[in-house]
Amino acid sequence: MPWKATGVAAAAFVPGTLREVTVGGSALLLVRGAEEIRALDPYCPHAGGVLAEGTLEGSRLACPVHAAIFDTATGGVIEDPFGISPPTGGVDPLTLYPVRVVAGMVEVDLP
Ligand code: FES
Repeated sequence: MPWKATGVAAAAFVPGTLREVTVGGSALLLVRGAEEIRALDPYCPHAGGVLAEGTLEGSRLACPVHAAIFDTATGGVIEDPFGISPPTGGVDPLTLYPVRVVAGMVEVDLP
């Protein structure tokens, strides 16, 4: 699968922040953790919440609409919408895409 440029400079991507970008015509969520950068689906599989507007605490990302919580390290669901934990399948996990940094710029391997 081809690596694609995101246009995001790794050094300017502040740890603990989220950013929605368009790559190859598709929206993508970039997550800047303390050490790593991850790329995930940009919209919540439950009802389309814009995850770039969510709340990030460590690797826990809360959807801004009904508060499902995803693990940005895996894309997995930590809590279903409305705080149901452990999750019972009320929302699908996010797809996690490979990320690399080349010459200081973030690239993503998209299918
Ligand atoms: S839209 Fe994200 S939890 Fe409902």
